[in-house]
Amino acid sequence: MEEKKKVIFSGIQPSGNLTLGNYLGALKNWVKLQDENKYECYFCVVDLHAITVRQEPKDLRRRTLEVLAIYLAAGIDPKKTTLFIQSHVSTHSEAAWLLNCFTYIGEASRMTQFKDKSKRYGEAVSVGLLDYPILMAADILLYNADLVPVGKDQTQHLEMARNIAQRFNNLYSPTFVIPEGYIPEDGAKIMDLQEPTKKMSKSSDNPNSYILIMDQPEVIRRKINRCVTDSIGVVNYTDEQPGIKNLITILGAINGLKPEEIVEKYKGKGYSQFKEDVADAIVGELEPIQQKVQSFLSDKKYLENIYKSGAEKAYYVSNKVLRKMQKKIGFIPKA
Ligand code: TYM
Repeated sequence: MEEKKKVIFSGIQPSGNLTLGNYLGALKNWVKLQDENKYECYFCVVDLHAITVRQEPKDLRRRTLEVLAIYLAAGIDPKKTTLFIQSHVSTHSEAAWLLNCFTYIGEASRMTQFKDKSKRYGEAVSVGLLDYPILMAADILLYNADLVPVGKDQTQHLEMARNIAQRFNNLYSPTFVIPEGYIPEDGAKIMDLQEPTKKMSKSSDNPNSYILIMDQPEVIRRKINRCVTDSIGVVNYTDEQPGIKNLITILGAINGLKPEEIVEKYKGKGYSQFKEDVADAIVGELEPIQQKVQSFLSDKKYLENIYKSGAEKAYYVSNKVLRKMQKKIGFIPKA
């Protein structure tokens, strides 16, 4: 008998333009995992998560399709993988409500990302922002995902999903698979180019601090050229040189070389050659993707076919788990 394939689930928010961090920390690994052909993969554009902070409707619409096009251009294959838009599959919001009732306010408000963001928004922080990891737990648990490929910044949220699942299973009976994180060896945390002790983020106010997947080659070269390094002048992989360390991580995540190999290669060479090579590597990786994104975006019908059939499959699979949850909780099944 054929063994049941392990399930993978992940998603990216269309809340800003995607960065090199999203690509190297998540998307590039999704493609790798998909192409191993041993997993059942679900990748989602998590638009419900995006509205935890205010979004301009037309920008949200544009970015949602652009993120889908980026998934495809990076190599996600809709023949192998279920691709969908989160808000098209109503089970996610429904399951999130149920899981809310099995989550403690204490554990939700301890999340570092919530604490950071709520500092920024003060009293005007939305309840949605507090609820965000619970919706994320719903995303994952509804598919009984075994593996969740994400960057390092999501490990705390993942831990919370595991705790909620465990709690529900203990209270009723085994319902959810307890998911494991899959954090890449290289690229798990790409840092800000201007403040390399901070994570590179699409929500930063300074465009020089990140590289966007859709940045033009000359913009990428300029941002790398201007990125903050140090006055030591030696390419070394050490916490004392966070800017250089970050560039080594980026280069390694693209060309597969280990940090020590990169350090060896640049022995006796200055930063300018190194930066130039890093910029070339990024441009070489992103340029073909950018061209494909444009061609996918010019065929809206094709995109529509993909997200429509993806949502149907996702609904079918997730609704079974949702019904199980409802039944265990004590709701009367719909006749
Ligand atoms: P989001 O949209 O903030 O980020 C998407 C993915 O990109 C990774 N990432 C990074 N990796 C390395 N270096 C960086 N600088 C960097 N910045 C972002 C993130 O770790 C993430 O993997 N809550 C999630 C989206 C989500 C999700 C899910 C993920 C919703 N439901 C279910 C997995 C499973 C988020 O906001 O990611």
